[in-house]
Amino acid sequence: MARKKIALIGGGQIGGVLAQLAALRELGDVVMFDIVEGLPQGKMLDIAEVGSVDGFDCCLKGTNSYEDIQGADVVIVTAGLPRKPGMSRDDLIEVNSKIMTSVAEGIKAHAPNSFVIVISNPLDAMVTLCQKITGFPYNRVIGQAGVLDSARFKTFIAWELGVSVKDVNAMTLGGHGDDMVPLVRYASVNGIPVMELLEKKYKDKAKAKEVMDAMVKRTRGAGGEVVALLKTGSAFYSPASSAICMAESILKDQKRVLPTCAYLNGEFGVKGFYVGVPCVLGENGVEAILEFELDAEEQAMMDKSVAAVKELVGSMK
Ligand code: APR
Repeated sequence: MARKKIALIGGGQIGGVLAQLAALRELGDVVMFDIVEGLPQGKMLDIAEVGSVDGFDCCLKGTNSYEDIQGADVVIVTAGLPRKPGMSRDDLIEVNSKIMTSVAEGIKAHAPNSFVIVISNPLDAMVTLCQKITGFPYNRVIGQAGVLDSARFKTFIAWELGVSVKDVNAMTLGGHGDDMVPLVRYASVNGIPVMELLEKKYKDKAKAKEVMDAMVKRTRGAGGEVVALLKTGSAFYSPASSAICMAESILKDQKRVLPTCAYLNGEFGVKGFYVGVPCVLGENGVEAILEFELDAEEQAMMDKSVAAVKELVGSMK
């Protein structure tokens, strides 16, 4: 069987971590494309030279030519500007739409059978645009947001309860914006509802709710929190890890259930838009969307988040 091939479009902060993680996990051969001459070549050479130290053996190539992504099984897109302090993800739409247009054309022409995972922001709009331009089936074009948003939520819960993050389960739905929907009702520590643990900890329902509300708020603003600290760009380790998790599930047909920005055709009451929902990711990309009943409060939050996604997508020229 031929080795798998992963193409990274964008060799900036996230692109570099993606390449290193893909190599460390030996997911396949990796090619990094960027428009800046020397940048992808330099990064890939740098990573390739520690194969003997880290114990990986795969071909790593940096390029400024789309021809090199030929035969890619999975393409991960990070091309585009990151935010600076004070900016929302949506502020990037004009400049990143132009970049995404050229990127999607390159993917369509040179990796027509690939699965595409978009990371560039504003995520929900960039995935929509990428699918439109490539014309790939919806199951082959997805966005990374929910794995990271959920991971952030899990982290805050673990810190609050003083338990291992490995035993925390939690998920966010909706768009990758300030209106995302962290699902409090389903947050658990090995199945034990987090709210119950908070109520035990504080012996006070109101205080437990206040603490949870603060974690939900921090999750929604977590990307901005990192931007404010870094000042020169946005989070890059965590989006890279999250997208690699999705790529691995597809490449190895793991059928992981991961919150994914996927095209909805009526699920959760949404038709014709890309929104974050739990998906089974396997060798066919999105193999299933796991729909479940939302309560009235969750549905209202979902509706608000979807409305924001619709407005964002509608604002694209
Ligand atoms: N084609 C390919 N690469 C491009 C193009 C293009 N048309 N235009 C810009 N790039 C490259 C840049 O040269 C740069 O190397 O995209 C890379 C982006 O890297 P960074 O600026 O370091 O940004 P990064 O932190 O990696 O974030 C990338 O992901 O999470 C989102 O909001 C974030 O939109 C941003 C994207």
